[in-house]
Amino acid sequence: MSQLLLHHLQAATLSPAQTRNGQLYGELPQAAIAIDGERIAWVGPETACPDHYRNWETLDLGGRLVTPGLIDCHTHLVFAGNRAHEFELRLQGMDYAGIARAGGGILSTVRATRAASADELLAAALPRLDSLLADGVTSVEIKSGYGLDTETELKILRVARRLAQERPVRIISTYLGAHAIPAPLDADTYIDSICLPTLRQAHAEGLVDQVDGFCENIAFNPRQIETVFRLAQTLGLPCKLHAEQLSHQGGTRLAARYRALSADHLEYATEADAEAMAAAGTVAVLLPGAFYALQEKQLPPIDALRRHRVPVALATDLNPGSSPLYSLLMTMNMACTLFRLTPAEALSGVTRHAAAALGLTDCGMLAPGLRADLAVWDVESPAELAWRMADRPLYRRLSAGCWA
Ligand code: NIG
Ligand code: FE
Repeated sequence: MSQLLLHHLQAATLSPAQTRNGQLYGELPQAAIAIDGERIAWVGPETACPDHYRNWETLDLGGRLVTPGLIDCHTHLVFAGNRAHEFELRLQGMDYAGIARAGGGILSTVRATRAASADELLAAALPRLDSLLADGVTSVEIKSGYGLDTETELKILRVARRLAQERPVRIISTYLGAHAIPAPLDADTYIDSICLPTLRQAHAEGLVDQVDGFCENIAFNPRQIETVFRLAQTLGLPCKLHAEQLSHQGGTRLAARYRALSADHLEYATEADAEAMAAAGTVAVLLPGAFYALQEKQLPPIDALRRHRVPVALATDLNPGSSPLYSLLMTMNMACTLFRLTPAEALSGVTRHAAAALGLTDCGMLAPGLRADLAVWDVESPAELAWRMADRPLYRRLSAGCWA
């Protein structure tokens, strides 16, 4: 196991211990970071670095900024097909829900994904994953949900697992069987006869880390989602939910009742929803890419989330329909521009709070004992990460202690 001392760097640790001192990013202006194998051994001001780390192999980072590796906590990046045509339809005035009701939308990706082989899905997913990694991402969540039959849901989850072998990145896989209703079935029949049995099987094969659903008037109602959450709970799997994206259905409060890791989208969530999330420790995952691409007007209740101290995470929601967004840095920019998050909130949103949205306690900050998932940047200050548009100022990425 290698031992490495990174020095001559500025760190944005995102650690609450540091941010308490009024430093929004947990900044350490002249810092060093000691890495022992896969873990961070020490972080602090360079002048305070204990002598014995100085005997380790050292690397001068030339004053560059080091942050925790970024975490994309909501993606649908394993899919086949192409829905650029729906973009054209939307620009002509058709809306997302209307396209879905006409058999396009998620179901069109389902048809293409069922027809694709696992190898084809893997080959299509790799460049998407690479695009995220080029933004300093070290952990990515990937959902199923474009199969809606047992065979294809399992195929997607297996491809998600294979991606972690193909690239130096941590993958968290999420079962999203309750994503859309495959005709000719009705929602209840689909849940009982396909969605739940598939979850049991996927769990038995070790393919699932957490369980998600789409609670919406074009998808599943809270009662149907609750049956999925109940099974997840029995299996010991944490839940999360696409909630209040296009309308208010009560999904957020359901998620809070099940102590969900996160409720995602939230454009139509209310103050009471924010309160319930705060009480349950549920993270708000905001997805400005979908808001932007669907030209939504209703903003998520940012001030209520702040007032109730709900941790806010950000993610690309990378998918072929509502969010063809392949950059987590651009997501930060959009969150600041569209949702008025501060750049510091945006950086917490793709590090510390994104880790919480995935139930990960060993990453998302620079602190001793955590995984050595780091991003080194060619920027002068952390705010630049959210400021630049369509730029990739990544210098190098360290994944579990290995340069990647
Ligand atoms: O997060 N909201 C549901 N699921 C995805 C969209 C998937 C699609 O349109 O293919 C989302 O926006
Ligand atoms: Fe999504």
